[in-house]
Amino acid sequence: MADKKKGRVFSGARPTGRQHLGNYLGAIRNYVALQDDYECIYCIVDLHALTTVETTKDLKANTYEMALDWLAAGIRPEETIVFVQSHVPQVTELHTILSMVTPLGKLTDLPTFKEKVRQQPHNVNYGLVGYPVLMTADITLYKADTVPVGVDQAPHIEFAREVVRSFNYRFGTNVLIEPQMKTTEIPKVLGIYGKDKMSKSLNNHIELAATPEETEKRVMQMVTDPQRIKRTDPGNPDVCNVFTMHKIFSPPEEVEMINVECRRAGIGCVDCKKRFAANLNKHLAPFRARRAELASDPDYIWDVLRDGADRARVIAEKTMEEVRAAVQLP
Ligand code: TRP
Repeated sequence: MADKKKGRVFSGARPTGRQHLGNYLGAIRNYVALQDDYECIYCIVDLHALTTVETTKDLKANTYEMALDWLAAGIRPEETIVFVQSHVPQVTELHTILSMVTPLGKLTDLPTFKEKVRQQPHNVNYGLVGYPVLMTADITLYKADTVPVGVDQAPHIEFAREVVRSFNYRFGTNVLIEPQMKTTEIPKVLGIYGKDKMSKSLNNHIELAATPEETEKRVMQMVTDPQRIKRTDPGNPDVCNVFTMHKIFSPPEEVEMINVECRRAGIGCVDCKKRFAANLNKHLAPFRARRAELASDPDYIWDVLRDGADRARVIAEKTMEEVRAAVQLP
């Protein structure tokens, strides 16, 4: 089965707990689809999370909730490896070795690093500088050739490719594989207040696992076309985040109806949002049912993650044997 597939995918995400619509449309949906064509490895990068979190008390719960959402959304752990980064400590060994072929200046020049320095000037730690090296270790440890990520991660993938070339050249080997980035068409998912991207830290998100009532409440708070003040004002769906969401979750006839009626004030924002909430709840119903079913056995998710780590460790240890030999560690 595996040898009929196009290649091996690896992707990682920091444990952020219950996932929201932005995570779903930006990553999870794509992770699920890739399983049909690739051998997939999906990792919850708890070590990466340590570079930015203020407290570690929620790490475990956030890991659990995220894994639960992934599986409920259709990640299939029988074929796909789903695991927690720190459960396979070989990644830290590879990180150390790769750090020796990484020029420091390259790390401090990365836009992602500069951004973090701006965000947390009080905590510019060593791990933060090495973040992309650890990411390179993630990808290369599992010999992944394809990495699905958002465009914001492009500099990290380019960096990983350079580190792989340096390593292979320096040690006269080809044990590490240069990964390719795979970007997918992702709709721009804004938070409920418009303007900003949907994110948990801004508390402008809609959780996949919310109840239908909570979902409707959040949807009713959504900001629509700011020019449309009175019910009788015509609206402009092209600048309305609710309309963007309708295009993703509502049937085409309804999208078309709203597109026409909003422009001539035939439908109001309240009605429009109620319709969106209903369609979204309908879309998420199977996910929510599956989630509840998986959560009914509290050990299940941890069993899946343990099994994933066992399978990941086999690949990791084999790569490390080759790496240690290439480096000529005694
Ligand atoms: N840096 C990625 C992010 O913040 C997370 C990540 C860690 C990752 N290791 C990875 C992504 C390996 C792809 C491959 O989104």
